[in-house]
Amino acid sequence: VSGPLGETVRRVAIAGSTGSVGTQALDVVEACPDRFELVALLAGRASEALVRQARALRPRLVVVAKGDEVPVLRAALPSSIEVLAGDEGISALVDVAEVVLNAVVGFAGLPVTLEALGAGRRLALANKESLVAAGPVVRRARERGGGELVPVDSEHAALHQCLRAGRGPQEVARLVVTASGGPFRNRSAAELRDVRVQDALAHPTWRMGAKITVDSSTLMNKGLELIEAHELFDVPYEHLDVLVHPQSVIHALVEFTDGAVIAQLAAADMRLPIGYALGWPERLDRAFSRVDLAQLGRLDFEPPDRERFRCLALAEQAARLGGSAPTWLNAANEVAVAAFLEGRLSWLKIPAVVEEVLGRWDGGMLGGLDDVLEADRTARRHAAEAVASLGEAA
Ligand SMILES: NC(=O)c1ccc[n+]([C@@H]2O[C@H](COP(=O)([O-])OP(=O)(O)OC[C@H]3O[C@@H](n4cnc5c(N)ncnc54)[C@H](OP(=O)(O)O)[C@@H]3O)[C@@H](O)[C@H]2O)c1
Repeated sequence: VSGPLGETVRRVAIAGSTGSVGTQALDVVEACPDRFELVALLAGRASEALVRQARALRPRLVVVAKGDEVPVLRAALPSSIEVLAGDEGISALVDVAEVVLNAVVGFAGLPVTLEALGAGRRLALANKESLVAAGPVVRRARERGGGELVPVDSEHAALHQCLRAGRGPQEVARLVVTASGGPFRNRSAAELRDVRVQDALAHPTWRMGAKITVDSSTLMNKGLELIEAHELFDVPYEHLDVLVHPQSVIHALVEFTDGAVIAQLAAADMRLPIGYALGWPERLDRAFSRVDLAQLGRLDFEPPDRERFRCLALAEQAARLGGSAPTWLNAANEVAVAAFLEGRLSWLKIPAVVEEVLGRWDGGMLGGLDDVLEADRTARRHAAEAVASLGEAA
């Protein structure tokens, strides 16, 4: 099917459709019917939100994580919509789509990443955890299947755009991702002792799901993003950097070998990078929001503080260690953040858990998916022990 500009209408599947990125992706798809057709949805549970989306948007397929929720969905949806679960559902979702947007949160997003790339689809990737935890395995799936990976994470979508100003890796000196600094940028080390869950969830510039919002408050999110950038753009860690920029207008910068710096500016609105990843190489013909620099007046920058925000330094350490260390980092962080959100661990102890787990890293390598799954399981076990000994109940 051809749209008015001659582009093809792309069949889009949205994994994690009920979340923050997922719902914004639905906004983009709905706003551009001449470019995108929604064919499948995937979420963790058979929630009311998922049922509402499926009834309103009528995809061909709806997938949930677990088989026991399939009857609930079948009963709630018209019979024209197929309902599947688990791996079978993910492979059917990839089958019907040309572009798969992966906005599942956490390590649970890995099967969607591997299946989409393995089947040669375009993967619009928000789920950074799958790249962090399984980088080499994802790379192999991409090479073998011929799938195309376009980042949705705003900093990486920005890098993707900036890199188009050069002629290849030989011209790139440095990639820089910016960080808002999160809600605690100006808190002293002493003040960080009394962080409450609601404080960590009050992000100054972005509205996001709970896990990534906590990751932003600890700067673990930036650490994960450095690993993500390394995996996406094959740039050595010495050439990757973080810059704190509280206004979140510049999302990333690329410094080229001649000293020229190209930056990408946009409003803090995920619909822009989502639309970019779905539509690439063509841009959308509409803007969901715009930047008004005259009104902003100024843009500020400062280096990140790795002493107060130790998660960034820990992620850099895991990146340098290589092998399955990033898998351990990711698993430990997921366990620690979940414990924090449930009130079982203080905010300051999140890096303590991650450090404890990384200290027990067994030096493992990632030969294949089994190694990733095993590393994730082992690290989660260590992390649960660390939470039990460092947590509130102790
Ligand atoms: N939010 C942002 O602005 C933003 C920006 C950049 C990158 N990202 C990345 O995008 C991803 C999603 O973030 P988010 O903030 O949108 O998260 P979120 O609001 O928590 O949404 C998570 C989504 O994942 C689904 N899900 C959870 N467990 C699942 C499982 N086992 N199987 C299948 N689906 C499952 C949830 O379904 P249920 O509703 O059924 O639980 C929900 O649809 C994360 O990797 C995050 O780092 C987010």
